[in-house]
Amino acid sequence: MENDYILVRQTSQLQGSVRVSGAKNSVLKLMAASILIPGVTRLSNVPDIADVRLMQQVLEALGVEVSWPASDSVQMDATNLTSHKAPYELVVRMRASTAVLGPLAARAGAATVALPGGCAIGARKVDMHISGLEALGAQCKIEHGYIEVAVPETGLQGAEVMLEFPSVGATENLIMAAVGAQGTTVIINAAREPEIADLIDFLISAGVTIKGRGTTRLEIEGVQTSKLTTEVEHKVVGDRIEAGTFLVAGALVGGPITVEGFNPEHLAVVLKKLREAGAELEINTDSATITREGAIKATTIQTLPYPGFPTDMQAQFMALMSVAEGASVITENVYENRFMFADEIARMGADIRIEGHHALVKGVAQLSGAPVVSPDLRGGAALVLAGLVANGETQIAGVHHIDRGYEQFCEKLRSLGARIERFS
Ligand code: EPU
Repeated sequence: MENDYILVRQTSQLQGSVRVSGAKNSVLKLMAASILIPGVTRLSNVPDIADVRLMQQVLEALGVEVSWPASDSVQMDATNLTSHKAPYELVVRMRASTAVLGPLAARAGAATVALPGGCAIGARKVDMHISGLEALGAQCKIEHGYIEVAVPETGLQGAEVMLEFPSVGATENLIMAAVGAQGTTVIINAAREPEIADLIDFLISAGVTIKGRGTTRLEIEGVQTSKLTTEVEHKVVGDRIEAGTFLVAGALVGGPITVEGFNPEHLAVVLKKLREAGAELEINTDSATITREGAIKATTIQTLPYPGFPTDMQAQFMALMSVAEGASVITENVYENRFMFADEIARMGADIRIEGHHALVKGVAQLSGAPVVSPDLRGGAALVLAGLVANGETQIAGVHHIDRGYEQFCEKLRSLGARIERFS
């Protein structure tokens, strides 16, 4: 897989409809949350992507039995946990493995999780995860490259925790740890991404009382995990980022294409920006249709925690702005180093200047196909999108990055008429 590459040829028309899978950034946390359930968790609308397979391995290392009753559903049986250690070999390949910290602390009273280390898009610290767990009474230390969490005999205690920044991962870990605490935990300045609301829905259906879903102030009533429902079923929320990626493809090439299987309210700012960029959108409850007839217009974006413009859509938008009329400024506020994509698309003739966390993108009339390498998951997808409108052929290496988060990406684009092939 490491040597696979994608070949995209300039495509004059994209048409038809495409269905997005369940959200990567939700399913990974829901799988981690299954650790809390002293029985069986069944998830549907599960994308079969590399990160989900990795999370499966993390859970299996803890003694959770994982199976796939259907190609889009996964079942976890966490009746008997046999370990509380998430090994380095797995965590280093996927930062989201740290989502097991909170549920392990709550259910097993201990967690040993390798430090994820740096990653391509920035340092991505875990300080807020740790200080949050400490506020609930856990003892945390970092030793030999592992985060060691120990819960005292008296158990975790509900507390008020204020996050310095609405971190998605810290909010999720704290919610899950709070389930096993005595009393109420209040999280202030919580992240409110739709994937967090999905985790809350899951926990509510497992018997937890949580107030404030979708807001920055969450109140979680601790319960003994042994009292939780022993059979929980949940459908994973549709992937708003996958949806946004296809919508940008529509804006680039023209459309009309319809993207189904997600809630357009979860992508409100992106839809607004697509309109500003010259696209027309028709919105339904679980789909959106995009067309563009006039020129692509430059528009300014800045990434922010939800409901702001998602950082996970930044590279795709940079691809769109690369061929817009005029200049656009893209500001990245969530990560300190998420502009690696700019260097790759520059090889295709894009005119982009980076100044700190701003990118000045001057639209060019035409990109030219070139060999490029996926810098990360979203950057890889954005290179494919750029390839659709670049003249000639674009060859994209590093496809394993795309496989982490997009299910059947080439197949779905091909079903819309994209001239795209994958080679091993
Ligand atoms: N941060 C800290 N300390 C912490 C936690 C976070 O400094 O304790 C910083 C990070 O270094 C980063 C920023 O806060 O600069 C945001 O991090 P956050 O914790 O919100 O992100 P995450 O939970 O690590 C999830 C998604 C990312 C997505 C971000 C932001 C998953 C598995 N990952 O990461 O998704 O970019 O939220 O929305 O849910 C992707 O899908 O391509 C992806 C990178």
